[in-house]
Amino acid sequence: MWSTRFSERARAYWTAERTQALTGGKRLAILPAEAPGLLRALGLLDGDAAMAPDRARKFFQINHLVRLLEPQLAAMHAAHTVVRIVDAGCGRSYLTLLLAHCARMRGAGIEILGVDRDPDLIAECRRRTEIAELSDLVHFEVDNVGELEPAKLGEIHAVVALHACDTATCDAIALGVALGAELIAVAPCCQAELARAWSSLEGTGGGFAPVWNAPHLRREIAAHLTDAMRMTLLRGAGYEVTAAEFAGSEHTPKNTLLRAIRGTADADAARAYAALVAATGGCGLRLAERLPR
Ligand SMILES: C[S@@+](CC[C@H](N)C(=O)[O-])C[C@H]1O[C@@H](n2cnc3c(N)ncnc32)[C@H](O)[C@@H]1O
Repeated sequence: MWSTRFSERARAYWTAERTQALTGGKRLAILPAEAPGLLRALGLLDGDAAMAPDRARKFFQINHLVRLLEPQLAAMHAAHTVVRIVDAGCGRSYLTLLLAHCARMRGAGIEILGVDRDPDLIAECRRRTEIAELSDLVHFEVDNVGELEPAKLGEIHAVVALHACDTATCDAIALGVALGAELIAVAPCCQAELARAWSSLEGTGGGFAPVWNAPHLRREIAAHLTDAMRMTLLRGAGYEVTAAEFAGSEHTPKNTLLRAIRGTADADAARAYAALVAATGGCGLRLAERLPR
């Protein structure tokens, strides 16, 4: 059987020295020798069980992300027989399948729905899932995250999104809040909504003019302020939120994780959001109209 043969090859290849050279001794959710079949299915290990440098970046992204979420995942597994998760903008299912694999390894119940608007990617996800022998735990749908109907999804405990483009991260947040998810974990990328709004302020003067007038700074600073606004909005919607670096910038420059855990609403959040919007030029996020405040 190919998986047995490949596992033997991978265990022989991933000596302690090679593993140490790859990981630098960091604790990870999985090491190559521990999950060769999964990593081969995901295309992160080559046929000879080696890992190409560009594949290592994705390997570290998903590994670090899952490690960071372990306390929340463990708490959800303790509370629910089957933890149900939506992976919004799942792409090629790297995170989706690692989450399922880790739950299986710990003998915990999990069901994951991966959603992506690209039908070719979803076909690839299904192929990978079959190879990784995780089809009993993971399903996929072609859909727009912003158009998912919460009532049709049933009980969902967590919504995750790794690099869901631009406002798709807001869609994932809005979905998580609408579902009352216990955990919403998003690693945003290409946050462009605010930068687009700021571009209309170019040349208007004002305290933020040096930022509005420099397209590069506009994009960079808008990305962080977008995340600050998202955090504030999530607090108003009843979540305790942190922002943390989940992977080194050598693995991805988009390495911020917003981790929101359902708790009590911050009564000051609406004021804080309005103050942040006012201080930076008056442009906010459409997400503000979609969340309870
Ligand atoms: C940069 S990729 C990240 C994929 C995956 N999460 C990963 O980290 O490998 C972003 C993915 O989000 C999907 N996407 C973007 N906007 C979406 C939306 N509104 N609804 C569903 N999928 C979306 C894209 O098709 C793409 O596969």
